[in-house]
Amino acid sequence: MTRYVILTGAGVSAESGLGTFRDEGGLWSQYDLAEVATPEGFAKNPGLVLGFYNARRANARSAVPNAAHGALARLGAALGPDLTLVTQNIDALHEAAGSRGVVHMHGEIERALCASCGQTWRAPDEMAPTDPCPHCNRPSTRPDIVWFGEMPYHMDRIYSALQAADVFVSIGTSGEVYPAAGFVEFARSAGAKTVEVNLEPTRRDGVFDDVIIGPATQAVADWVAGILD
Ligand code: OAD
Repeated sequence: MTRYVILTGAGVSAESGLGTFRDEGGLWSQYDLAEVATPEGFAKNPGLVLGFYNARRANARSAVPNAAHGALARLGAALGPDLTLVTQNIDALHEAAGSRGVVHMHGEIERALCASCGQTWRAPDEMAPTDPCPHCNRPSTRPDIVWFGEMPYHMDRIYSALQAADVFVSIGTSGEVYPAAGFVEFARSAGAKTVEVNLEPTRRDGVFDDVIIGPATQAVADWVAGILD
């Protein structure tokens, strides 16, 4: 069997109406990343940070999965353990489309984390800086999201899957944020074929063997159909 690792980014959810970060008009042109997506920003102004993520959570909850999420769920159902689906996205649209075992390396908007004791729980609609942790009761509630300067989740598992991969596919991500941006080189060095699906090529150095240009809803659906149908 062919073993696949697929990495998705904001572009896979763009056609579900969730804004990307670095495209024109993207979230990082509206908000200061240092203020809302770093531990230092949270320490300085927790209300601002929680408000930013409360808005992200409301947006994510109102979004529905698109044909790209659907195609990846179909691929996962066919491949079982031979597909590792890694996402940088904090939304749950892969799961809503039916994907199981999605590896959320940047955390999940639907989870809350206690900054004091590390307990996690399902996020409420709105988080406030005074919310107590249900485990230790300290008012240290934050979203269970990986901020800049923090270590992404599940890295051992991801690198093991990349090491064993026959095919690595990067979908709808700009490749600006490490460590995810380095997965393609790692997989390629380990012998995988590398594929990019994006509205535009993100690299000019030939690190991707195949580059499929197009909106994810179309391009991912076609790519999956080429494997399964
Ligand atoms: P970016 O906003 O950096 O990149 C989105 C990518 O999706 C771009 O390369 C677009 O060309 C592509 N794209 C947009 N619409 C598309 C569509 N309909 N079909 C296919 N591709 C499309 O988002 P990410 O790469 O996901 O991290 O960003 C990586 C990380 O940076 C995020 O996880 C987040 C952010 O800061 C944290 O907050 C820690």
